[in-house]
Order: sequence, then C-alpha cells, then structure tokens
Amino acid sequence: MNHGPRETEEFFAQIQAESGKMNATTRSAIQAGKVALCVFPPALSLDASLSASKSCGLPFHVGSQNTHWEKSGAFTGEVSGPMLIEIGVRWSLTGHSERRQYFGETDETVRKRTESLLDQGFRVIACVGETRAQREAGETRAVLEKQITGILPKAGEGSARFLDGTLVIAYEPVWAIGTGLTATPEQAEEAHQEIRKQLWERFGMEAAGRTPILYGGSVTPENASALLGCANVDGALVGGASLKAKNFLALVEAAGRLNP
Ligand code: PGA
Repeated sequence: MNHGPRETEEFFAQIQAESGKMNATTRSAIQAGKVALCVFPPALSLDASLSASKSCGLPFHVGSQNTHWEKSGAFTGEVSGPMLIEIGVRWSLTGHSERRQYFGETDETVRKRTESLLDQGFRVIACVGETRAQREAGETRAVLEKQITGILPKAGEGSARFLDGTLVIAYEPVWAIGTGLTATPEQAEEAHQEIRKQLWERFGMEAAGRTPILYGGSVTPENASALLGCANVDGALVGGASLKAKNFLALVEAAGRLNP
C-alpha cells in the first residue's frame, strides 16, 4: 500500500532522470531480455504505472498485487483478470504473505487465483515462505513442500500451460519481510534448492529448470549481489528498497552485473 498514482508518476519521472547513468552492461542485459523489470503497485496505481513507465526509458512490466479467481461477480473489493487485461496488465502476484497474514488467504485460495490467472494467460509470481517459528522448529522444508503442493495446479493433463516460465515462484521467508532481517545467501540457496526439487518431483526436470525462483525479504542494493549470485536465485521480489527510484536502479544494476 505504497505509491498512489501521483507518487507513481514521480517514481517513473525519477527513473527516467536517473536511468541515463545506467551501466552499459546492465542496459544491454535488459535489452537482451536477461534482466526483466516488473512493478506491482496498488490497483489504483496500475494505470499510472502503465502510462508513466512507457516514457521512462526502460522496459517495465506492470503487475497486480492480488487478483480474484472469478472473472466477475459479487466479490466487493476484488479485481479480476479480465479487468486487468482490459487496461494492459498481464502479471500478477498470488499468495503474498501479507495477504495470508492479514486477509485470510490460504493455500487453497492461492491455488485458485494462480490456476485461474495462468488459464487467462497471465504470468504469475506465486509466493511461499515459512514464519520465524516454523524455521526455528526446523520445519522450513516441510512448510515449503506443503505450500508448493497446495498452491500449484496439479501435475498432469494441462499442466504444460504453466511450465514454460510463465509461472514464477517467490521464496519470501515471512520473518525477513519488512524486518531488515535477510536470509543469508546460504539460507536462500537452500530453500530455493528445496523449491526446485519440489517442482522437479511434480513436473519434471525441464519444467523445474524453466521456473524462475525469486528471493524476497529485506533485499537492499547492499545485499542484492550476494543473494542474486546464488545458483538457484533467479531474481528478487523487493518491497521497501524498491520504492525509491535510485535504490530500484541500484538493484537493477546488481542484476545486470550478474547477467552480462
Ligand atoms: P521487503 O518486502 O523487501 O520490504 O522486505 C518484500 C515483500 O513485501 O515482498
């Protein structure tokens, strides 16, 4: 719940002003499609993001933070896939831990959203991650397995529709989100390996290899390189540190350096 339409316009104006200083390696990594940029603003700022990002000098995807599984109906307060498609949005998050923590989201509702969005042709970033109590009790692996099983469409007929990189998983340990506590690169890599293994067991090696797995939880320009440098960390889902254009671009530079 950061950046209304006016702040969104200011953010992209700053991106435009600063992006001229971008390292040539990073710029060519973006042009070659090795580094992709996506913002997930509040629903009210989607339109401003779409229009302001067009003239900011860098290619941005714009996604929804939360999307209902039904296409329309009596679901006050929700936004649907067809509404997003109408304005030009083709990405969505599902199952962010704040949706689970504060708004009663369960693995089952995350699965419904994820499956419906994939069927409608969206690229989906589905979020998983353990709480501090679960990590301290040694349950991280079991929690990730339960969440991956619970939120993804079943393997089998029709599953090919999301195995081409359309689906992205974000590993976001709940204890690291907005707390300033970051998973160490070793902790992140271990969890990402576990997620990759879960995907492999369900959908096969090729699908597991094609599914980007992002790390989220107090990522900053200072720690981004170490996290993004892990073999199974394919990108970052960033909250606080992404809100200022300068920091956002510093994060992009970290990704650019690692993907020349
Ligand atoms: P943070 O948030 O980077 O501020 O920890 C991450 C998130 O909300 O996904």
